[in-house]
Amino acid sequence: MGNGARDNFGHDTTTDEVLAGIDLSGKLALITGGSGGLGAETARALAAHGARVVLTARDIAKGQGVAQQIGESTGNKTVEVEELELGSLASIRNFAERFLSRHNTIDLLINNAGVMACPFGTTTDGFELQFGTNHLGHFLMTGLLTPALINGAPARIVSLSSRGHQMSPVVFDDIPFEHRAYEKWSAYGQSKTANVLFAVELERRLGPKTVHAYAVHPGVIPTDLSRHMVPEDFEFLQKRAPTGNLRFKSVEAGAATSVFAATAPELEGRGGVYLEDCGVAEVNDAEDAVDGVRSYAVDSAAADRLWSLSEELVGQTFSL
Ligand SMILES: NC(=O)c1ccc[n+]([C@@H]2O[C@H](COP(=O)([O-])OP(=O)(O)OC[C@H]3O[C@@H](n4cnc5c(N)ncnc54)[C@H](OP(=O)(O)O)[C@@H]3O)[C@@H](O)[C@H]2O)c1
Repeated sequence: MGNGARDNFGHDTTTDEVLAGIDLSGKLALITGGSGGLGAETARALAAHGARVVLTARDIAKGQGVAQQIGESTGNKTVEVEELELGSLASIRNFAERFLSRHNTIDLLINNAGVMACPFGTTTDGFELQFGTNHLGHFLMTGLLTPALINGAPARIVSLSSRGHQMSPVVFDDIPFEHRAYEKWSAYGQSKTANVLFAVELERRLGPKTVHAYAVHPGVIPTDLSRHMVPEDFEFLQKRAPTGNLRFKSVEAGAATSVFAATAPELEGRGGVYLEDCGVAEVNDAEDAVDGVRSYAVDSAAADRLWSLSEELVGQTFSL
């Protein structure tokens, strides 16, 4: 039987369309990078449908501004803001401790924060900036918060990846670019592949406990993510686009796939998948692929290897 409007979800579907008829009262949603862009819209939409939202920000004042706007526009005044710098293991540990002292349950975790195509840099702990922030930071944080996710089960974890994952697998022989020239798009691609592999491995480990994990490509959305881009970068991305033209989405449509992954009844019990345009995408290894997920990003052996390596790098094992 058809599912009405939900059968027609696609490129321009918005957060509120995804959440029509869904009541999130009593659910706690934690969103990293809620100080702007897709994270702020994800927080607004979930709060508008009754969720209790905790958003993280590295700049607390910026995060509080978003929380205030959400309170005014939705009437939901329960949004909390917590400081988190994903480029610092100490900040992540502090955050997790504070969070767990206040909340013992998470229903929806949206690992949204990210940086893209920045010049070479390292995190406080010396990891290449994009891999360290986008993957390792979320890896440690999620591991530390797992007891709350298990308490919240059935719970979901959403990992913001990108079509950019097609630009590189995780290069296990040289993740930090010590033996190859740094290339900002390969580094972004590597980190976004790591985001998919992390969802695959989380699903394997936590799926049986009804904590399911999903990876998402949100689309192409004009946000501050492009802060490091120069005109040649836009030309580079235009050339990679199917028609030679990037097809942009609104922020409300960009956050829709995250919200879909976090709440869609259609995805019940079906984790470890990669979504785009509010639907599950297929594996696509065609050289000129513009959609779908690369097989290297959903490879279970690579997912397992990345987990072990990440434990080593952050100096903590998680017996899940
Ligand atoms: N926009 C797109 O077209 C697009 C496409 C594909 C994938 N994505 C993915 O979608 C996610 C959200 O991107 P967006 O477009 O909303 O970008 P954005 O507007 O730049 O927002 C990124 C968020 O991450 C936070 N952040 C960055 N570095 C951080 C760090 N070291 N520690 C903690 N928080 C940090 C930012 O905080 P500040 O406010 O302090 O900077 C901001 O809240 C990213 O993972 C991105 O890779 C976006």
